[in-house]
Amino acid sequence: MAEHVKIIFEDKTYKFPVVVGSEGERAIDISKLRRNTGLVTLDPGFANTGSCSSSITFMNGEKGILRYRGIPIEQLAEHSTFPETAYLLINGALPTRKELNHFSVMLNDQSLVHEDMRIFFQNFPRHSHPMGILSSMVNALRSFYPERHIIEEEINLIVIHLLSKVRTLSAMSYKISRGHRVVYPRHDFSYCANFLNMMFDNPVKPYQIDKEVVDALNVFWILHADHEQNCSTSAVRVVGSGRVNLYAAISAGIAALWGPLHGGANQAVIEMLYDIAKNGNNVARVVERAKDKKDPFRLMGFGHRVYKTYDPRAKIMKKMCDKVLSKLNTSDPLLDIAKELEETALNDNYFIEHNLYPNVDFYSGIILRAIGIPTNMFTVMFAIGRLPGWIAQWKESVDDPNWRISRPRQIYIGSPETKYIPIDER
Ligand code: CMC
Repeated sequence: MAEHVKIIFEDKTYKFPVVVGSEGERAIDISKLRRNTGLVTLDPGFANTGSCSSSITFMNGEKGILRYRGIPIEQLAEHSTFPETAYLLINGALPTRKELNHFSVMLNDQSLVHEDMRIFFQNFPRHSHPMGILSSMVNALRSFYPERHIIEEEINLIVIHLLSKVRTLSAMSYKISRGHRVVYPRHDFSYCANFLNMMFDNPVKPYQIDKEVVDALNVFWILHADHEQNCSTSAVRVVGSGRVNLYAAISAGIAALWGPLHGGANQAVIEMLYDIAKNGNNVARVVERAKDKKDPFRLMGFGHRVYKTYDPRAKIMKKMCDKVLSKLNTSDPLLDIAKELEETALNDNYFIEHNLYPNVDFYSGIILRAIGIPTNMFTVMFAIGRLPGWIAQWKESVDDPNWRISRPRQIYIGSPETKYIPIDER
């Protein structure tokens, strides 16, 4: 196997080392490219750029593989819980029972948020999107819970604050948006049950914790927990590389996740399915629109930068949809439309040739709807799930001996040097 790549430029040959990952992936280390040749690389959207080495998550987009710390996503979805998976991602190994108990106690102990934060919610204009509110609130957490020294125990406490308080803040924002009384977290509930109770309990109709719903939420969050160097995780790493505090880096991740091409796709999928239902279930028309290059419309929940086959998370999510709906003894006409849409697209030449398959967001909204989560909270649910990944990636970048502030180059295509003309002479 070649250990170097040769670049011939202006009749001179330069050698650059080939780096090999633990699963055999290969990269050219061009960290000395500019110093040696004067050249930079140009790679819009970083589609061919490895921005770091990481030991957290492995993906193989051709084979549809996703593993956290080496463990296949299918096994975690079947056997783990969200807090256990969060521990695995953040600390690098599965916890012992004692470690997991301690972690769960800490999550419960830190679940309250400062009462003054409630005032913030009241001052956001009505109809503010919950992702904008969440991003601001997470940034504001730093003012309420500042770190004194950047030492390991302080970081560990901030990690617990984020995992626990973001869940509380999200449920609180929902209650306040409806004008309902806030429900406080409880010590006797697990992570997922506590969230559901804070969302749905009310004095008129106390919320009944249903094991099936708790299990579904655990799986939903496990599937979203990390996905290597995606848009929001890269945002966390880039913003964090300036050595900003962890709250601010996570707040940047939440803002990046909001976009409809990224985490916001789960909301966009349900809106698209609604639209199809409203317009007479014309699935074929929507597929035709998605193929039309003059139409900016895309099939939401389809396609992925890395997966060129079925997203393994979507496979699990699709099975879960049927399971959850049958356990809750309910049906959803949007699920039927989604299945018809998937079948039509997967048999269409355009989608076959472009390797476009359903991604995690295609079926996730159906599950969230069944649980009772409102559509505009879908991306917040993604954000809670992605927290352990963002935190693990931030921690890894902070400890990376090769760390450097993120500062890409560009190819300038603007005007050459131009003389300033005073305003009256223009
Ligand atoms: N519908 C129709 N055509 C598509 C779609 C789609 N959903 N996705 C990609 N294409 C086409 C695209 O038009 C292009 O065609 P051509 O080569 O003929 O010009 C080709 O496929 C490659 O697309 P791309 O935009 O260069 O691919 P990308 O890797 O830059 O973008 C993506 C990936 C996920 C942004 C894109 O597939 C997309 O917009 N999908 C819909 C939004 C969505 O579901 N996002 C959630 C992603 S999974 C959750 C997460 O981790 O964020």
